[in-house]
Amino acid sequence: MGDASMTVASAAERVRELRKQIDHHNYRYYVLDDPEISDAEYDRLMRELKELEEQYPELVTPDSPTQRVGAAPVSELEEVVHSVPMLSLDNAFTDEDLIAFDRRVRERLETDQEIEYAAEPKLDGLAVSFRYEHGKLVLAATRGDGVRGENVTHNVRTIKAVPLELRGSPPELLEVRGEVFMPIAGFKAMNERALARGEKTFVNPRNAAAGSLRQLDPRQAAQRPFDVFFYAVGEVRGWSLPPRHSDALEQLREWGLKISPLIRVVRGAAGCLEYYRDMAAKRPSLPYEIDGVVYKVNSYVQQRELGFVARAPRWAIAHKFPAHEENTIVRGVEFQVGRTGALTPVARLEPVFVGGVTVSNATLHNMDEIRRKDIRIGDTVVVRRAGDVIPEVVKVILERRPPDAQIVELPAKCPVCGSDVEREEGEAIARCTGGLFCAAQRKESLRHFASRRALDIEGLGTKLIDQLVDLELVRSPADLYALTVEQLAGLERMGEKSAAKLVEALERSKDTTLPRFLYALGIRDVGEATAAALAAHFGSLEALQDATEEQIRETPDVGPVVAAHIRHFFDQAHNREVIAALRAHGVRWPDVPRKSALTEGRLSGKTFVLTGTLDSMSREEASERIAALGGKVSGSVSKKTSYVVVGAEPGSKLKKAQELGVEILDEKAFLALLEQR
Ligand code: IVH
Repeated sequence: MGDASMTVASAAERVRELRKQIDHHNYRYYVLDDPEISDAEYDRLMRELKELEEQYPELVTPDSPTQRVGAAPVSELEEVVHSVPMLSLDNAFTDEDLIAFDRRVRERLETDQEIEYAAEPKLDGLAVSFRYEHGKLVLAATRGDGVRGENVTHNVRTIKAVPLELRGSPPELLEVRGEVFMPIAGFKAMNERALARGEKTFVNPRNAAAGSLRQLDPRQAAQRPFDVFFYAVGEVRGWSLPPRHSDALEQLREWGLKISPLIRVVRGAAGCLEYYRDMAAKRPSLPYEIDGVVYKVNSYVQQRELGFVARAPRWAIAHKFPAHEENTIVRGVEFQVGRTGALTPVARLEPVFVGGVTVSNATLHNMDEIRRKDIRIGDTVVVRRAGDVIPEVVKVILERRPPDAQIVELPAKCPVCGSDVEREEGEAIARCTGGLFCAAQRKESLRHFASRRALDIEGLGTKLIDQLVDLELVRSPADLYALTVEQLAGLERMGEKSAAKLVEALERSKDTTLPRFLYALGIRDVGEATAAALAAHFGSLEALQDATEEQIRETPDVGPVVAAHIRHFFDQAHNREVIAALRAHGVRWPDVPRKSALTEGRLSGKTFVLTGTLDSMSREEASERIAALGGKVSGSVSKKTSYVVVGAEPGSKLKKAQELGVEILDEKAFLALLEQR
């Protein structure tokens, strides 16, 4: 390494060797997605190279892997004229559009044979042309208007997935096109960092990629989590293209260019549609955004015969997915009252079709969020719904703000019960002070009490709870146990049979456990894991009820704020009365042997890593259940990991687990482990 006896010649030799190794590992990692060495080993190679280059600056070359950190800023983005124009694509929005496209292709080619297409994900980033001369990257330019783009070589050189030099024997000139994009995780992390520093955040990964790629300072760009997939060939010299586009991509991959592993060769419109559905199903679990798929006639001979219209080829089409983002108007803002009295502002929207469903409400989280985004009634906003997540208002389109747009104010009184609304200093959340006097809070706490992970009262749904509270048949959870079949049968959408079933379910729910009961009480900030910890620490409800705040704080993972909430809850006479009434109705649980504190649960000492989606529960729920049994959940796999729980569409963690020989649990095995007695 920093060995003084090393001659320049031997240093040069070692530098060459290191660069070769690093290039090889980059190829394994980025292009093949199949690394041979650990990140730590890779870092060691890089460090050695950096140290040698520091010692012998004459050995530094612009294409050294150490030079990715970014050279000096440029003063402006130069214009680049594309030697072969960069075309755009026509869009298909429906199956019929696609079928019509396929028909036009066959008519033009005068064939009734099925057409072979290369089907590719349509990445949502920005198109870039990369020029390699004698295998070395010499120019990277944005698409711009298709004829003229901008020189972004300085930034593209910092993207690790873009090779600075091609492998094997590349042609004299190779211009390739691809999409530079930001993976979702990197985008989020980058935005969080920006937010923490009070800097500007980006609305979505596409904008982030576009903004970041067009900046002047490559040292900034080097910090951005760019990635790339190559998908087309532009100008070439010294290579006679294979007959099919898919074969050309295969060759590009061998030269070290990263090609999407999701590209397939399909036949006819039917093959395209099948691919479309397959990708639509994969879309929510991909680590980057795609806004549709692209079908390209695979034969270059046929492509040439079909030619172009205006600025799009006749041989390709983009089949778009329902958009994740749409514009709509905020008609009003209402405040919903939750179980703990928290007031959540909800935007009432002009209904809009986005992410495959019609959206007419979106949560605005809290007043700070409304102020930060400056959302007013009457505003036109961008609404986003990706996957199954709750729709959100991304931003206001200020240019379309009407002069009479109305500022949203926090109501002084609870919209449900009229009690005062309070917002504690430094808290984002405003609360109704009505407690269980407030019908909204009563309904929410009953829903929580009856929920599956609490007392699990089957058949006691939202609509029924609304009726029971509105008719004042039920004021507290204890009242549930006084309900009779006759009372219930008289309610809307209830008959004798379902009423009898509900009474049975109520009866069954009486036999419960201390952690469940504590959780069901709905004490602020007491989730399942905390309830389990409290049960284990105190062993009985009496011990907890009588404990001081200090004693409560001795429970593992219970801090001062939560301890105060718990003490406050038991200090309220009406809460004690409800508990006594529940007991009088026969709700019961066995005490918990005290020594089995949370840290000594059945899974204590075990570390879990979750990857992919589980059918039966969310990730949060899985984590809580592991924690409730004393286990720990970690974000990354290491030798110390006890189990990796694998759901549908797992990520790279599965591979890592296999490499390290960590025990892998599928959903069934995981559930069995949780439910073991
Ligand atoms: S091919 C003539 N393939 O979509 C063919 N484009 O709407 C031109 N895009 O500007 C492009 N993924 O930014 C092609 N697999 C893919 C693509 C793709 C994303 C983008 C690209 C292009 C735009 C056209």
